[in-house]
Amino acid sequence: MQPTGLFITLEGVEGVGKSTQIKHVADWFRKQGREVLTTREPGGSRAGEAIRQILLRHNDVAISAETELLLIFAARAQHLIEMIRPALAAGQVVVCDRFTDASYAYQGAGRGMAVEQIAQLEQWVQEDLRPDLTLLLDAPVELGLERAGRRSSADRFEAETLAFFQAVREAYLDIARGEPERVVVIDASDDEMTVRRNIRAVLEHEYA
Ligand SMILES: Nc1ncnc2c1ncn2[C@@H]1O[C@H](COP(=O)(O)OP(=O)(O)OP(=O)(O)O)[C@@H](O)[C@H]1O
Ligand SMILES: [Mg+2]
Repeated sequence: MQPTGLFITLEGVEGVGKSTQIKHVADWFRKQGREVLTTREPGGSRAGEAIRQILLRHNDVAISAETELLLIFAARAQHLIEMIRPALAAGQVVVCDRFTDASYAYQGAGRGMAVEQIAQLEQWVQEDLRPDLTLLLDAPVELGLERAGRRSSADRFEAETLAFFQAVREAYLDIARGEPERVVVIDASDDEMTVRRNIRAVLEHEYA
């Protein structure tokens, strides 16, 4: 019998360790014998990655909050059609680095777009598809930005103020409080191995 597809997302502000931990999540499911697709947003599909380049461009491209939100959902629509839905239909585990919670956190709380507007786009583009599990990597924003800063020069988002990222972090935590059955908060200020172990405990509890 074909296993049912599983949709798992990782969320959190820059530098908390999403790209680091997504590999461990994928490994865990592969050891369970599952086929895994790891992907990321904004991006994922070819068109989505092109949109990502526009979104992350530093300084030289003016993008209004509305345009940013629409571009992100445009990329998401293509990502769903081309990659996420087919993988789920084939019974795979899709692990995605950021998804729609990021739109509520960044474009909503960060940029001030109305929650109702984001919810409309979510319903339109995703219909009834929501993540089965979201791992919210949470840490003080200064810590994440320091980790991210060590890695590369700042992109358009990383150039935002501390207050912006604090609003984003709080929005993520609000989502987690509102949907505790879907969103699990992981303390991302721990070292990489401890975070990995805590994530594995969640996966074992849910899916072993
Ligand atoms: N638990 C940890 N403790 C210390 N450093 C870490 C930890 N997890 C990841 N790092 C390091 O911090 C940096 C940022 O991690 P990573 O790229 O995984 O974060 P991210 O959440 O994907 O960031 P972004 O949102 O910018 O893509 C990397 O250099 C990574 O090696
Ligand atoms: Mg990353």
